[in-house]
Amino acid sequence: MDYGLKNRLSRIIKPEDNRTVMLAIDHGYFMGPTSGLEDVKGAITPLLPYADSLMLTRGILRNQIDARIDIPIVLRVSGGTSILKDDLSDEDITVSMEDAIRLNASAVALSIFVGSKNEKQGIINLAKLVDEGNRYGIPVLAVTAVGREMARDARYLSLSSRIAAETGASIVKTYYCDDFEKVISTCPVPVVVAGGKKTGEKEALELAYNAVKCGAAGVDMGRNIFQSERPVNMIKAVRAVVHEGLAPEEAYNAVYNVDTP
Ligand code: 5RP
Repeated sequence: MDYGLKNRLSRIIKPEDNRTVMLAIDHGYFMGPTSGLEDVKGAITPLLPYADSLMLTRGILRNQIDARIDIPIVLRVSGGTSILKDDLSDEDITVSMEDAIRLNASAVALSIFVGSKNEKQGIINLAKLVDEGNRYGIPVLAVTAVGREMARDARYLSLSSRIAAETGASIVKTYYCDDFEKVISTCPVPVVVAGGKKTGEKEALELAYNAVKCGAAGVDMGRNIFQSERPVNMIKAVRAVVHEGLAPEEAYNAVYNVDTP
């Protein structure tokens, strides 16, 4: 693997344990002012010391994140559709590689919608992005996005994760599901899981725990952290599960039974 690509990847997935806690705050690119992210700067700044990387759009990066903070950036570079549309799969590449480099991105991220009517467009965009990324040593994270009509089961998620990896993605982001070992064992690149809609804290920690137990490299979690009543506690608990291997209950007790603002 090329030095630059490997070096950038190691900023995201920590070489000490091959694990990562990515903080996803890119929801606004299709959801607008997402609950918990109305004031991005206020919400996210206290979380940054506990995140291994930050996944977001260039607009939020330029306007809301202090450039002097040293945190690896995973730049969302796909979009084009909003939640007002029934079909979210009509995405294209929205950021040039030149701008990603200008923003010092450690990786770029794009969604593919396998099984949707725009399946081909997403996969071809991923292939183009990988070619561009390879030219400059920038890894691509492929999000196996799931349309409303698609099942989040191991059959579908292993199909879409494998297609993402075969197309050249360096990291695949997908959803946790029953038989998740199947998704991991058939995907030749590191897999991170999304947290999905806000659930209870213990449930989200359980998801992270089960995902890494099955072989995931970690999480790329958003709403279950920034919509939590105590987001700093939550991200610390997620770290304890992902990096220290604490069981969900232990991680919860370790951080929620101490006083953190
Ligand atoms: C949207 C994304 C989001 O980053 C993703 O859904 C992660 O956040 P959450 O944990 O809130 O699901 O990639 O396509």
